[in-house]
Amino acid sequence: MSAPYIERRAPVLYEECVDSTNLFLRRMADSAADGTAVVAASQSAGRGRLGRTFLSPEGGIYLSVLLRPDVEPSRLPTLTPVAAVAVCRAVESVCGARCKIKWPNDVLLGGRKICGILVESVLGDGSPCVIVGIGINGNTSSFPEELLPIAGSIASVTGERCDLQALSAALLQELDALYAVWLSDGSAVLEEYRRLCINIGREVSVGERRGQTLAVGDDYSLLVRWSDGSEESLCFGEVSVRGVYGSK
Ligand code: BTN
Repeated sequence: MSAPYIERRAPVLYEECVDSTNLFLRRMADSAADGTAVVAASQSAGRGRLGRTFLSPEGGIYLSVLLRPDVEPSRLPTLTPVAAVAVCRAVESVCGARCKIKWPNDVLLGGRKICGILVESVLGDGSPCVIVGIGINGNTSSFPEELLPIAGSIASVTGERCDLQALSAALLQELDALYAVWLSDGSAVLEEYRRLCINIGREVSVGERRGQTLAVGDDYSLLVRWSDGSEESLCFGEVSVRGVYGSK
């Protein structure tokens, strides 16, 4: 992959290999300008949600953006769905493929997870900031054994190699545009997110609890009716959805 060519308000740094693009920006958090982005061709210690590892070989896109939004801290988690919508838009425009979102932050194509998103807050010496990290399996061809039933790449699903440089440029452009909209109106991306979200009406489980997803709330939470009839708004966490992986 080569550096994405794009004109924008803040620098885009390109690295062949870093430990983690999120950590890379975290180390610059005291001085980096709002909007600074880093794109890497591979990561040696890619990080996933819930302390997991995100395997990051060449063939993927590993991208993080540092943001300094002047908003209520309670709004920050909603940057995850905003980033997911940006991924869907970029994949459709560059690869002609339509993705879906599994709440809150997995992007699926043809029933395979092709992207994960990790949004982290940094409270350093400078002004607080947020790092939005996105990993896309563009042309990745191997996955760990345990992920084989769920993971895929854009190329493995569409059968066509993906232009990683064009995709990373489009992703940054979509992210920049959606972030600007989100800053002035947090719910502006909500309808698009709802249309893309695969969870609605499906059977879900969280640990031992089973239920059905009713809706995505105005705060991007997931409204679930449990099998005992009670309802709950989930704001974060791991939700298993029946019949999502492998189904197109
Ligand atoms: C997940 O699916 O659990 C989230 C994965 C997020 C991976 C991206 S790759 C770019 C950025 N740098 C990281 O170390 N993680 C995120």
